[in-house]
Amino acid sequence: MTTTSRDLGFVHRFVAGSAAAPTLLLLHGTGGNETDLLSLGQELYPGAALLSPRGRVLERGMPRFFRRLAEGVFDQEDLARRTDELVGFIRDAAVEYRVDPTRVVAVGYSNGANIAASVLLRQPIALAGAVLFHPMVPFEPEQRPDMRDARIFISAGKSDPMVPQRLTQRLIELLQDGGARVAVHWEPGGHELVAGEVAAARLWLQEAFTQQGAGS
Ligand code: MLT
Repeated sequence: MTTTSRDLGFVHRFVAGSAAAPTLLLLHGTGGNETDLLSLGQELYPGAALLSPRGRVLERGMPRFFRRLAEGVFDQEDLARRTDELVGFIRDAAVEYRVDPTRVVAVGYSNGANIAASVLLRQPIALAGAVLFHPMVPFEPEQRPDMRDARIFISAGKSDPMVPQRLTQRLIELLQDGGARVAVHWEPGGHELVAGEVAAARLWLQEAFTQQGAGS
């Protein structure tokens, strides 16, 4: 079953999945939409339910999940508000589509990875974990969030012109300081999403989120 809806505050798509699998919350990059990552979600975890919202901010017509003032410089007030909105969406969608709210795993690319990281740092309870493709540090939290239950996969490009390696390292540190278990994958290239990191994320997801005794 695929549902397309404007309800719950976000234009979004929902694809039903098997109860044994987690639900993947798909978060696109700048200029993407709610359809872009559906095939990636299917590839990453066949049989998972897919929940895919469209970012509500428009930057010169391109959807994003929060405002930025310049490349890599984020509007922190807007980020905080949009992060809370997304957490509300996750909670409401779990009720609407009857998915287990404790088994929602974000899969974000670029701007989508940044809002997923922001959810983890602000309201970690909202996610069981995340796959972050090419994230930055969304903000420096004032208090250390408790992320002991979170499992996170980060993938980054060693020559990413938008995300210097030190920013990836800083995000890893912030997540680990909060107790999250973090797996890191480096690609030699830049900001683009490539097959090697998708394959690594797929393996990691299967290992981290397949329930014991759930069959396949
Ligand atoms: C993007 O273009 O999406 C940036 O690299 C990341 C962001 O602005 O959140």
